[in-house]
Amino acid sequence: ETQRYAAVLDAVIARAGLLRAEKKLRPHLARVLVYELLLGKGFRGAGGRWKPLLSRHQARLKAELARLKVRQGVSRNEDLLEAGSRPGPVSQVPRFVRVNTLKTCCGDAIDYFKRQGFSYQGQASSLEDLRALKGKHFLLDPLLPELLVFPAQTDLHEHPLYLAGHLILQDKASCLPATLLAPPPGSHVIDACAAPGNKTSHLAALLKNQGKIFAFDLDAKRLASMATLLARAGVSCCELAEVDFLTVSPTDQRYDRVQYILLDPSCSGSGMLSRPLEEQGSGTPSQERLRALAGFQQWALCHALSFPSLQRLVYSTCSLCQEENEDVVRDALQQNPGFRLAPVLPSWPHRGLSTFPGAEHCLRASPETTLTGGFFIAVFERAEVLSSASQAEALAPELAPSPAPKRKRRRRKADVQAAGAGAAAEATCGK
Ligand SMILES: C[S@@+](CC[C@H](N)C(=O)[O-])C[C@H]1O[C@@H](n2cnc3c(N)ncnc32)[C@H](O)[C@@H]1O
Repeated sequence: ETQRYAAVLDAVIARAGLLRAEKKLRPHLARVLVYELLLGKGFRGAGGRWKPLLSRHQARLKAELARLKVRQGVSRNEDLLEAGSRPGPVSQVPRFVRVNTLKTCCGDAIDYFKRQGFSYQGQASSLEDLRALKGKHFLLDPLLPELLVFPAQTDLHEHPLYLAGHLILQDKASCLPATLLAPPPGSHVIDACAAPGNKTSHLAALLKNQGKIFAFDLDAKRLASMATLLARAGVSCCELAEVDFLTVSPTDQRYDRVQYILLDPSCSGSGMLSRPLEEQGSGTPSQERLRALAGFQQWALCHALSFPSLQRLVYSTCSLCQEENEDVVRDALQQNPGFRLAPVLPSWPHRGLSTFPGAEHCLRASPETTLTGGFFIAVFERAEVLSSASQAEALAPELAPSPAPKRKRRRRKADVQAAGAGAAAEATCGK
């Protein structure tokens, strides 16, 4: 019975904050106890030391169960099972698969799946096509190149192409930061908070392994799994460092040529998909935690914007909270008047909250609006004109014409490069 009600119990436990308040209570035991308390026959003299603990939370737990019933529009406990089994927006998010172009190409990956009995439906023309995917059908995403889309429940974790690093299982929203940063091959890029490295491997694919990625992270364990991921993905242009990004000196000459920075800092994760429980966004972070996270994000963003050769920066989070998103971006723009927001993907349906002029250039994502996890992205670009030959050369020395082009031409080239991915993606969007 406890298993049957697991999703209901987890939802009630999460909303009542039981595990946060009682650190010693393990999740599976919490389920059994809360089942007995709310849905079973009560402790009836049993319950031992857990009984007084549960009694302290009884009122809140009962209230959350009642609220859940109101939200689902049901009156009996059993009806919650029925309502819970209806597919919610989170469980309708398709399985996105990025083809790793360092190891293979889209055509070969598609052929492999076809040989395995999957049926390729061509490029989708709208989100509705993705929503309608079923069985062994798959599509190419309407917006992002090299992104295959399978029905929501498709599990490819044991697929040989995934195990060989030819495929990266990565949500569409999480593919946007590297796509919108769009560093051309040969450029130098910083991935400031890089582990476990899905976006780093995407950057390396865009660079075609030419140029350099300086990837930083504080967490040794996450860096170790990142090293494995990058090796499997065939990434050879990345220098990994166990370093606090805030201590990386922008004037160190190693970073002289860094024109692109991806900043995907630690965040509350309030937009992350939690497929089994349909509990996305339910664990609302406390104001105190949000303040601490936003303080770090703000600091890291302003630090990144101080790299002297920087031309373009993507700031992203998997948070839904304004404090970590629009507020951080607004403050960074106020403190860095030399930068502005790039107007990317104008047809993307979900925009930044209108909390400051220009916030509509930010992108938001969610299961309901974009069929992805919850996400936020802002693209910063330097507002001033490129002013020296060395900057143009630093953009992509192997590709830079010689002699250096005139100032006006250089500016156009940089604009085109900066807009390239967005424009290319835009061209296929909503067809
Ligand atoms: C959201 S995750 C990054 C995910 C990664 N970009 C990806 O796509 O796989 C945030 C990372 O920032 C790291 N981090 C937190 N504070 C940091 C700091 N001061 N300097 C460098 N990395 C930091 C965390 O260890 C964590 O791995």
